[in-house]
Amino acid sequence: MAERTIRLFGDPVLRSACDPIRVGDARASQLIEDLLETVQLPGRAGLAANQIGVGLRAFSYNIDGDVGYVINPVLAEVQGEAELVDEGCLSVPGFYFPRLRYPFARVTGIDLDGNSIEVSGEGLMAQALQHETDHLDGHLYIEGLEPTTKKEAMRMIRMAPWY
Ligand code: NI
Repeated sequence: MAERTIRLFGDPVLRSACDPIRVGDARASQLIEDLLETVQLPGRAGLAANQIGVGLRAFSYNIDGDVGYVINPVLAEVQGEAELVDEGCLSVPGFYFPRLRYPFARVTGIDLDGNSIEVSGEGLMAQALQHETDHLDGHLYIEGLEPTTKKEAMRMIRMAPWY
């Protein structure tokens, strides 16, 4: 297992939609190990494969001690009224901006053996499920900010030392 370096905003891998993983793909078990190890560092809630430079559809999560992963995740359901919630991303370090998220989300997918799995939750879990599936479609959360917030966010990000 290995903790992997996080790709930052500006890296083209974050803008690319990830490819589905076939059951038995030799790369999958190593990828999942790395995603699980890397998401368990303090302060991390979720991690998509392209954030560690791998263009395959899988993410890991770490919400209130609940750690897991989903392969080929699909955002199957959201519920409630979208609300503005502060959000951050390991690929946009040091920033939090408010954006609309649904208060409940459910993701379906498979595990490493190809079994159907499902992860759902409210609050932080719902936010992470929406955020990570967006990553795998090549979208960062800052793209979905309200226009004035987005303009200010981009101004701040361009001044960040890592940018
Ligand atoms: Ni993120």
